[in-house]
Amino acid sequence: MKKPKVDRSKCEGHAVCVGIAPEVFELDSEGKAYVKNPEGADEQSIEDAINGCPVQAISWVEE
Ligand code: F3S
Repeated sequence: MKKPKVDRSKCEGHAVCVGIAPEVFELDSEGKAYVKNPEGADEQSIEDAINGCPVQAISWVEE
């Protein structure tokens, strides 16, 4: 099953991902996103979040 992953070295806290899929992504105390619940939204919403990130910090990983 594929899951979204945030590359924290790339994330700049733009929070587009949080806006699109707030059940999946959350900002931590450093202002960077992490995956809170990889099953918190449908695949299309996560895809939109991946495509919406201005610095391409999110990608799919196979688990
Ligand atoms: Fe970071 Fe991109 Fe989300 S910069 S906060 S992963 S939109």
